Amino acid sequence: MGKTLNLIPVTPLDYRRLAEARLPRFLFDYIDGGANDERTLASNVDDFARVLIKQQVLRNVDNLDTSTEIAGKPASMPVVLAPVGMAGLFGRRGEVQGVRAANAAGVPFTLSTVGICPLDEIRSASSVPFWFQLYMIRDREVIRDLLQRAMANGCDTLVFTVDLPMPGMRHRDVRNGMLDTGLRGKLGKVWQLGTRPGWVWDVGVKGKPHSFGNLAHVVPDPTDLAVFSQWINRQFDTSVTWKDIEWLRGIWKGKLLIKGILQTGDARDALAVGADGLIVSNHGGRQLDSVASSISKLPAIAEAVGGQMEILMDGGVRSGVDVFKAIALGASAVMIGRPWVWAMAGAGEQGVRDLLAVFKRELEIAMALSGVTRIADISRDNIDSTPW
Ligand code: GLV
Repeated sequence: MGKTLNLIPVTPLDYRRLAEARLPRFLFDYIDGGANDERTLASNVDDFARVLIKQQVLRNVDNLDTSTEIAGKPASMPVVLAPVGMAGLFGRRGEVQGVRAANAAGVPFTLSTVGICPLDEIRSASSVPFWFQLYMIRDREVIRDLLQRAMANGCDTLVFTVDLPMPGMRHRDVRNGMLDTGLRGKLGKVWQLGTRPGWVWDVGVKGKPHSFGNLAHVVPDPTDLAVFSQWINRQFDTSVTWKDIEWLRGIWKGKLLIKGILQTGDARDALAVGADGLIVSNHGGRQLDSVASSISKLPAIAEAVGGQMEILMDGGVRSGVDVFKAIALGASAVMIGRPWVWAMAGAGEQGVRDLLAVFKRELEIAMALSGVTRIADISRDNIDSTPW
């Protein structure tokens, strides 16, 4: 194991420190980093901090209740575990740890297309239906097949990512030789692995297989990250338009949420093609650096289409107080990505459970000090000011 920190973790950033000590550098940076100068990554977090809540007292906040509905199903609070690629490299069978913690906390879990654990492994681990995430892949038969398998494994909600016609430029991955097939890249990674024997044994050896579970049958060598990334570059469809989403809507019978919307025009288009909801997202600052933070884009989108479809958001949510702010600014729920993966990498399934319990407590406190007892009662009136 990497250097054990003398820390009882509470916040996502505490778990981030534990994850950093435990993971080989190239993996830590893959999850931690964003595109280019990481300005959007930073503003996702900074803009949350600049939203101020109105404190309102003496309103009888007995019987406070954080429960809600997300995509038509009950949840203990308005939080969803976001799809994160390769979670099974950050912890042993990482997606299984994530879904178990989500089940225990009573919130939905989303399996990524490029998860390590396949759909059926998650189905076996989960006591309730889970969500599945997909990108537009050129070979439409691969899409049909994945959707059928998702349905057969009980997925009721599809998160369709539309902001990845091509992967963003993430400089940390290049610096670390993450995708370098040459000798230099290999040696660099071997050296980084050598500094983390705990990870090598726990995840590298005992966490096998490390293939991309859902794509193992279509990617030539799914255990070779470089081969996989070449496949992605060939298969991610740059020609996608709303027409393709209409096609998708026709074949997916469950709930459809479009992820990666930042403009009201795109939100109206998502509504027009029959999506049940959308996720205001800049992909955690991993795609186009210099787009606005998700939280700053949320109010206008919620205003434009919020009455007609479900609005989720992700990017920069680091506490239950942030969850409260997002709900007040028009979201019906938020997704968290890095926080759950940092917790899982740093402290396993228990870490994710503990983190979700902290989020719930923080949300309760924000509600109590705002004078509201129901999620449905949180509104723009609870916001003191925003910087935009
Ligand atoms: C993939 O979606 C990524 O952000 O790495």
